[in-house]
Amino acid sequence: MSSHYRYGSFSQMGHPLTKETKKSCEVKTVALPILCTLLGIVITAFITWHIARAHYSTHDGNVFSKPSPSQQPEDSIPASDLRLPTSVSPISYDLVIKTYLPGYNYTADSKNLTFEGQVTIKLNITKSIKKITLNSKDLNYTGELLKKSSLIVFFGAPLRTDMSGLYQTTYTNSNGTVKMAAVTQMEPVYARRMVPCFDEPAYKATWTVTVIHPKGTTAVANGIEDKTEDIQAEFISSSFKTTPRMSSYLLAIFISEFEYNEASTKSGVRFRVWSRPEEKNSTRYAVEAGVKCLEYYEEYYKIPFPLPKQDMVALPDFSAGAMENWGLITYRESALLYDPRIYPGPQKRRVAVVIAHELAHQWFGNLVTLKWWNDLWLNEGFATLVEYLGTDEISDGNFRMREWFTMDALWTAFAADSVASTHPMTFQIDKAMEVLDSFDSVTYDKGGSVLAMVRKTIGEENFNTGINHYLTRHQFDNAEAADLLRALGEKLPDDVLGPEGTKLNITDFMDPWTKQLGYPLLKAKKINNTHISVTQERFKLLQTGKEEEKYSHPKWGFKWDVPVWYQVAGSPAIEMKWMKKNEELIIKSDKPIILNAESNGFYRTGYTDEMWKEIIFMMKENHEQFLPQTRVRLIDDSFAQARAGVLNYSVPFQLITYLKNEKDYLPWTGTIAKIRELIDMYGTDPEKDVVNKFMIALASKTPAKREVEFVSKNYLDDKQFYDVNAAQSIILNDCLMGDSVCATNMIKMFNEEVIGKCDSNRILSECSQIPAPFRGEAYCQAVKHGDSDVFEKVFHWYKTERNQVEKINLMNAITCSRDIITLKKLMLDAMKPVGSSFRLQDCAALFAKICTNDATSDSMLNFLIERWNEMMIRLADDHSGFHRVLSSIVNTLKTRGGLEQLKQFTTKTEKAVELGVDKMQETAEVTIAWRETNLKFVTKFVDDLLKTI
Ligand SMILES: *[C@@H]1O[C@H](CO)[C@@H](O)[C@H](O)[C@H]1NC(C)=O
Ligand SMILES: *[C@@H]1O[C@H](CO)[C@@H](O)[C@H](O)[C@H]1NC(C)=O
Ligand SMILES: *[C@@H]1O[C@H](CO)[C@@H](O)[C@H](O)[C@H]1NC(C)=O
Ligand SMILES: *[C@@H]1O[C@H](CO)[C@@H](O)[C@H](O)[C@H]1NC(C)=O
Ligand SMILES: *[C@@H]1O[C@H](CO)[C@@H](O)[C@H](O)[C@H]1NC(C)=O
Ligand SMILES: [Zn+2]
Repeated sequence: MSSHYRYGSFSQMGHPLTKETKKSCEVKTVALPILCTLLGIVITAFITWHIARAHYSTHDGNVFSKPSPSQQPEDSIPASDLRLPTSVSPISYDLVIKTYLPGYNYTADSKNLTFEGQVTIKLNITKSIKKITLNSKDLNYTGELLKKSSLIVFFGAPLRTDMSGLYQTTYTNSNGTVKMAAVTQMEPVYARRMVPCFDEPAYKATWTVTVIHPKGTTAVANGIEDKTEDIQAEFISSSFKTTPRMSSYLLAIFISEFEYNEASTKSGVRFRVWSRPEEKNSTRYAVEAGVKCLEYYEEYYKIPFPLPKQDMVALPDFSAGAMENWGLITYRESALLYDPRIYPGPQKRRVAVVIAHELAHQWFGNLVTLKWWNDLWLNEGFATLVEYLGTDEISDGNFRMREWFTMDALWTAFAADSVASTHPMTFQIDKAMEVLDSFDSVTYDKGGSVLAMVRKTIGEENFNTGINHYLTRHQFDNAEAADLLRALGEKLPDDVLGPEGTKLNITDFMDPWTKQLGYPLLKAKKINNTHISVTQERFKLLQTGKEEEKYSHPKWGFKWDVPVWYQVAGSPAIEMKWMKKNEELIIKSDKPIILNAESNGFYRTGYTDEMWKEIIFMMKENHEQFLPQTRVRLIDDSFAQARAGVLNYSVPFQLITYLKNEKDYLPWTGTIAKIRELIDMYGTDPEKDVVNKFMIALASKTPAKREVEFVSKNYLDDKQFYDVNAAQSIILNDCLMGDSVCATNMIKMFNEEVIGKCDSNRILSECSQIPAPFRGEAYCQAVKHGDSDVFEKVFHWYKTERNQVEKINLMNAITCSRDIITLKKLMLDAMKPVGSSFRLQDCAALFAKICTNDATSDSMLNFLIERWNEMMIRLADDHSGFHRVLSSIVNTLKTRGGLEQLKQFTTKTEKAVELGVDKMQETAEVTIAWRETNLKFVTKFVDDLLKTI
């Protein structure tokens, strides 16, 4: 799956709802009561036929009776009982699903918006058993049958509205008609919401799917089309070829009036990209990118794509970013469609990245699948690593993804793993709820970053050979993290040495990184004029933060064997030496050194004040002697250490004054991100203007291009991607930091290109002539500085907009209002269970934006407490989205009083604890501590520094 926490304004993803846990429990109990006695005997009889024949024939009881769902409270079921027993497994599923989408010519009103199904599961029974247990959730049963070793079940349920299982997605076509399509989202535990099945990744089986759907629609599934025939006057039956063995979480079906563009890969894989008919032209980029990337992966993995076709679909309603269902990948529209008039550079890159991520899974994840969710990092960390390769291929290297890795995966992982409430990459998962908990940036970004470190350590060729070995050995099967490490080890040449000076043992090296949380801070100190000592300690943002008990005493004591890369001043070479867990490393050098040059390692680095001075001097003298990834590492590490209270803020601020000479995208985006983090901690305190002024002044000195015209004219030229995006980031940051010239420019564009050209009957994406990189900001500034009339116009355009990237521009714009009552109205609108102006998938982004608005940020906690029950009605349906809503609100806290109020609320609100609100408080504590100890100092220091630049 591709989450979206790394992109745009989203910061977090994937947390649990206890509701979820219940599902797998109810599930089991559904199948039990009926099947227990009767099937138990039948199956036992089947296996031990000669013994049990008489017994069997006396039981011709009613197999068809309806099961009555058990009322057993979910919380009383022990975690171990939530796993399926291993004595029965599925060999194949034969599934028929009939959907009743509205708007078509059939007469079955009572079945409107429902589906019914029939599944035949061929079972592999390896020992005498008394019962068969399946996962199922929210399904009504109309019959069960056991024939030989096949189980046949009939069931039905309403199409869901919460973007899980088989759900409805709604859109308005160009004629203004409301249309509905049906689609699935199964990962991690939602297949059971469409079909009773063995819903754990280890139970791989083949799937033969038939979809019965209204005439006028088309069905797509994992397998390539087999037969299509009319059945009854109003329905079509579409059947699909049997899939290879696969896990239930990869199952997908899709029924719609969508259209596609198509191409083929060199090896003959048919590639289709589907969209609403109006967006058909916007699928061309994805077709081209997809084909290129798939061809590249066939070379990279050295294994042919295992299916005859690949479909990709852009969906109007989708919870995550995308989902890698084998042969039928589903996406948010904004992550698959590409319209050059509307999409700025970073959004185009996002499309390429998400495509590259999901296609990487077709091998890593789908062909070879994790045994159990505790190794989720294996799937997601690897796809994260490989998405950068695929995206470089798609963009012909113009997006410079290996560099961007530093600002993206590595950056995010360092932030997520610096708090005590983090978790190890590999961690025990017993319940469905914990599975949801694990789709976070530790799994994705730390997973990818640690794998990148291993790749650099053992060499890229050895790494790739090991990956091929692993995939070949476990194809169409399941594997664990240990299997990957073993495969890498088996292909490792003897001359790759570990910390002991003997052949590297990959498992010994990796375990401390994957099985204990956190990461080290390496500290360099001069011993004398020729030698430098390096030691390690764990990096922690909040020194008093408490780890969960089960993670707080790791076997390795928060120490790691560290491959230490460093660059000696005056030489471009980057050298590597091993640092052992419990020893200091001595580096011989009479010149200053930079640790973790090029950002290959998963650790931060610190120096003595004297050494920092030397580094800052070198950066000011000639920053280009260091790679952009090295420069941005110094910026990130120094600000992070200052925030953690282990470095004086004068260091990072003096360091970034070198940006007067900096043109490059990476250091500029890195600095902007760090400064925004700081400004967030100021909250609504006016002293932050000093920092704003400082950044605007610094940007005014940069030799980087930063003219609106330069960006507007060149943003479609991928060859200038880095220069254009550096300029775009700097300009937009000026606006955000309150630069009046920037605001005036944007408002002028809005008046000329929107107000001057578009009336309220127009769709803004079709009418507005503002260049893509400035659309969002121009709309925002217009609302911010405009009257209620402007707000109403923009809100109207939001509601009628159909292009989802433009829609997000407009949604962000309405949150730029400075009127608190208006902003509260927007939130209440988002909470309406029926008739809301906002799609459920967008609510988290809406709340996140409103939380950063000075007009509302100080009152969000009260909003949460007062409106908790109302929020639960709609917002909580999208689990990962609601988690983001909550953490955005918790991040607005700036005072001990506020934190205390939140703690009291959490204590007496069980649901809030279940949702992990207590774990979100750590960042707020960091902010509060920062305000107590640093706010005054930073303000004064930056004010003085401002006079010198
Ligand atoms: C709808 O179905 C009915 C009966 O099956 C048929 O007579 C009629 O022509 C259909 N209408 C359309 C618009 O297809
Ligand atoms: C089915 O439900 C949709 C959406 O609620 C509604 O617009 C439509 O009129 C319903 N159709 C029938 C035949 O009840
Ligand atoms: C049934 O399960 C056993 C034990 O897991 C396995 O060895 C065998 O290959 C399976 N049979 C089929 C037909 O999948
Ligand atoms: C079962 O069917 C009834 C009637 O069709 C429906 O109202 C109900 O929502 C269904 N329940 C589930 C759990 O699907
Ligand atoms: C819109 O309506 C026209 C005329 O009825 C029709 O030809 C066209 O196909 C419709 N467009 C869509 C997207 O349904
Ligand atoms: Zn993924």
